[in-house]
Amino acid sequence: MAVDQEVARRRTFAIISHPDAGKTTLTEKLLLFAGAIHIAGSVKARKASRHATSDWMEIEKQRGISVASSVMQMEYRGCVINLLDTPGHQDFSEDTYRVLTAVDAALMVIDAANGVEAQTLRLLEVCRARNTPILTFVNKMDREVREPLDLIDEIERTLNMTAVPFTWPLGMGRSFHGVFDLRRDRMRVFRPGADRLDEQDEIIEGLDNPEIALRFTENVAQARQEIELIRGASPEFSHVAFLAGEQTPVFFGSAINNFGVREVLDALVDLAPSPGSRQALQRQVQPAESMFSGVVFKIQANMNPAHRDRIAFVRICSGRFERGMNLRVVRSDKDIRTNGVVSFLSQRRELLDIAYSGDIIGIPNHGTLQLGDTLTQGERLQFTGLPFFAPEIFQTVEIADPMRSKQLKLGLTQLGEEGAIQVFRPHAGGALLLGAVGTLQFEVVAHRLKHEYGVDARLASAKYQMARWVTSDDPRELKRFIDTNAHRVAYDAVDAPTFLASFGAELSVAQESWRLIQFHRLREHA
Ligand code: G4P
Repeated sequence: MAVDQEVARRRTFAIISHPDAGKTTLTEKLLLFAGAIHIAGSVKARKASRHATSDWMEIEKQRGISVASSVMQMEYRGCVINLLDTPGHQDFSEDTYRVLTAVDAALMVIDAANGVEAQTLRLLEVCRARNTPILTFVNKMDREVREPLDLIDEIERTLNMTAVPFTWPLGMGRSFHGVFDLRRDRMRVFRPGADRLDEQDEIIEGLDNPEIALRFTENVAQARQEIELIRGASPEFSHVAFLAGEQTPVFFGSAINNFGVREVLDALVDLAPSPGSRQALQRQVQPAESMFSGVVFKIQANMNPAHRDRIAFVRICSGRFERGMNLRVVRSDKDIRTNGVVSFLSQRRELLDIAYSGDIIGIPNHGTLQLGDTLTQGERLQFTGLPFFAPEIFQTVEIADPMRSKQLKLGLTQLGEEGAIQVFRPHAGGALLLGAVGTLQFEVVAHRLKHEYGVDARLASAKYQMARWVTSDDPRELKRFIDTNAHRVAYDAVDAPTFLASFGAELSVAQESWRLIQFHRLREHA
């Protein structure tokens, strides 16, 4: 098949949700449809261990299993679907943000009892900033939940999108009877039961079919009224508005009962976009170009501590990947061989022979690849848009045993490159500073320093509370700023200067006094 045909049949997306809304369950069901049940098993296994352990031990464990399940690929209706997992804990949302730069669409899962929750909101912000198209699945209709009209209203208000229901529930909880498919004018009758496909589901044709009222009496009138209301109130679905992230199609169901899930999968195939063009500093890159290009959006290190191996996750942006081909790392201008490149077709990592735009490939390496790196067949391209967020919590790091300082440095460099934490080197010297978006990140780093690098690190809270990357069109002005504020400036992993402040007023004073300096909350890898 030609590259453009392969691109056209690809769908790359992530599921975003607040913890416990049902992401794991839904993932499992989606995989079930595509016949990839063995992976579904691993998804379940990962989840099963959750309750037994403390939070960060679990993250540690997940890291072990998640290389296999952090990218899942399946075929459905002739499409190749790449599903990217996103870390669930909010302290790791930074990682999640970067994963979201690698997808072309997102599926938002909402717990119908809780509505739009904090974590969903934050993740949605990132999608909105990139105009990522979003599909919505309202889960757990088999429970006593909130009124569907109320939920639709909340989605529209909090997410600032028009919600266009594609299905509508008939009842909820004990009297949940099924969903109306508003586009195909038929009803899918609910029957509880987890591990089955929906082929056995009973379908009643026609929303006005008198059989519906005869069988489900009490809720029918209400559901019909609601449907009339939303048909009157919400606009027609517009594919253009959906692709622009302005409209979201909404589906109701119950993931655990595998109910209403197929409609979502079908919508992914029918509505979600195939890989589009991507912006590089130099030019716009088209997915069906013949030459390969890709960008590293995630790095997972030390899956096997004995080998210090790490896998760089690369989103293919154009062309076709073939195993063994030479790829140029544009940053370092070095070529790498790709004999060991893996795909994520199943629970095991598998050697990969061919992949196309939209696919994710894993390249094992020992540090030659960093977050944000662009790979090409020689062209000097640098993809933009991989975000790093200004940390909000800082700790200093020191070690008990000075003999281990080399290991500490190595460990911090590698963990920094992986994006697990941000490491800052103060301009004035002294202990390294660690910056994080969530406190849990520190615990994980301390734990990993000890177990992977044999370093007992002492972390102590630092006086800073905010950081801003500083730039200026005038290099002399930037130098003057750095010299004047020497005790408040530190350099990050790529040596970008950062201004550190202990409280908000300090930052605003600096901003007012230094008009030619720009202060950034977000650094895009470039
Ligand atoms: P997450 O990945 O988003 O964190 O959520 P996950 O799928 O783990 O689901 C969270 C809980 O919600 C699980 O229950 C799961 O069984 C339940 N759940 C998911 N979908 C549905 C649904 O459609 N209806 C109902 N009633 N429950 C649903 P748990 O008690 O945490 O785990 P378990 O004991 O069921 O394994």
